[in-house]
Amino acid sequence: MRMFAATLIVCVSSLFPSAGSCQSAVTPPLIPRPNGLRLNGGWMRLSIGSPVVVTPQTREVGEYLAAFLERASGSLIEVRERSAGPDGEYAPWDSDADIGAVVLSLDPTLERLGPEGYRLSIDSNSVRISSSTADGVFYGCQSLRQLLPATAETGRVRDAAWTVPQMQVEDSPRFRWRGLMVDCSRTFQSLEYLRKLIDCLALYKLNVLHLHLTDDQGWRLEIERYPELTGCGANYPERYHQSGGFYTQAQMRQLIEYARLRRVTIVPEIEMPGHCMGALAAYPQLSCTGGPFEIFPFFKGDGIQADVFCAGNDSVFTFLQNVLDEVIGLFPSRYVHVGGDEVPKTRWEHCPLCQARMRKEGLKNEEELQSWFIRRIEGYLNAKGRLLIGWDEILQGGLAPRAAVMSWRGTEGGVRASGMGHDVVMSPTSHCYLDYEHTTISVEKAYSFDPAPETFTGQQKSHVLGVQGNIWTHIAVSEPAVDRQVFPRLIALAEAGWTAPALKDWNDFSARLGRHFRRLDELGVNYYKGE
Ligand code: ACM
Ligand code: ZN
Repeated sequence: MRMFAATLIVCVSSLFPSAGSCQSAVTPPLIPRPNGLRLNGGWMRLSIGSPVVVTPQTREVGEYLAAFLERASGSLIEVRERSAGPDGEYAPWDSDADIGAVVLSLDPTLERLGPEGYRLSIDSNSVRISSSTADGVFYGCQSLRQLLPATAETGRVRDAAWTVPQMQVEDSPRFRWRGLMVDCSRTFQSLEYLRKLIDCLALYKLNVLHLHLTDDQGWRLEIERYPELTGCGANYPERYHQSGGFYTQAQMRQLIEYARLRRVTIVPEIEMPGHCMGALAAYPQLSCTGGPFEIFPFFKGDGIQADVFCAGNDSVFTFLQNVLDEVIGLFPSRYVHVGGDEVPKTRWEHCPLCQARMRKEGLKNEEELQSWFIRRIEGYLNAKGRLLIGWDEILQGGLAPRAAVMSWRGTEGGVRASGMGHDVVMSPTSHCYLDYEHTTISVEKAYSFDPAPETFTGQQKSHVLGVQGNIWTHIAVSEPAVDRQVFPRLIALAEAGWTAPALKDWNDFSARLGRHFRRLDELGVNYYKGE
């Protein structure tokens, strides 16, 4: 239903500031840059209040788009479901009824664009978005969103012209994992903030939010069977005067659904066998020494703690399996991240149970004990239909048979693991560590990252799942500070994960990025401004 339908058109140069006249062709400021785009000249007037036409398969995305357009325009937007023809098929286009509409449809012939690819066609009459999947239709909607004025993000200016260039986009991502990791342990992130991040990920066609939920600085996810994890494991001792926090399972379920509607998979990370003081503070009997322990305050740095899970104690595996059961029940993600990084071996060297385990299993050293630990957890996850992913230290002592590797200490781990036929996500400190200062990793440097460069063999390239930016929060300890580290470098990584290398061009990207700052302002993102 329409409350009002205004069709105010002003010069399009307000939409594309570098356009000299209403009709001049100018590259639309789409990020990531589409892999196929043809401007057809001319413009289409998108009426405020234009209906969104859907089929049953695109209804969910249509409702998302309508909600966005409603917020933007202040008008109620009709979501109109197309009826099926006598053969049960949906006509891709109805030349009478679709005039002036945004039409979202599935088109099996677009399977050639892959599961996230889409076609966006704008002519003088309508906007049509089609794909072989609802995910692709969603990404087409994000491209349309970026063609609207920045003020559409908040609806603050309701009489803006909605004029979009006539064009045809056929687009699909280079990689299927385009992610951001957020450390919720060192600094607890509010649900509201995580929702804002998810909105930004969707806008830039990123599809993974990896939540680092447990570490030495706190355990942040409710596990019903072990209430102390979020009792003493999530809260600092009083003398630190620091607040902690955790997500209940009900809250996390809502966040997962919020993300799903925006095509973002939340990948949970439960750290083991190290970085686990959140768990050991609550259940010290899971360590080699028996404790007692406290969670480690973030303001003392990101320090690596010597105490880790005891690898010789079977009750540690009972505990971890029970935790993972609840994690799997909550998160639909195919991958479960188990950390595996920075595990000091000193406690294991002196622990009779760990040493007995090594003798029993014929393990030569503590590196092999870590590998045995990760393999055992991998077996458990695989039996539940999930895949294990871990930081590149899981290569040490031998990689678990089906494990995927997140390469962070440079790209070497990713090179090695992909060469061995394992899937990898590239997030090296050199380009993807968003907690590093902007003077160390500039936007241009992040943009230059190629997750699967020409030096890789065909086999290696085929195992690169994609790219991920990581924000650790021992220095960025507030949400504005996290924003300042993440943006706009994450946007550069988004293009590195989506756009073919031949189409990447720093000057062109930086001109398009310049036209996104207004949008980020509207979204309340405290991006780095170069001060
Ligand atoms: C890491 O940065 N320790 C994965
Ligand atoms: Zn031990």
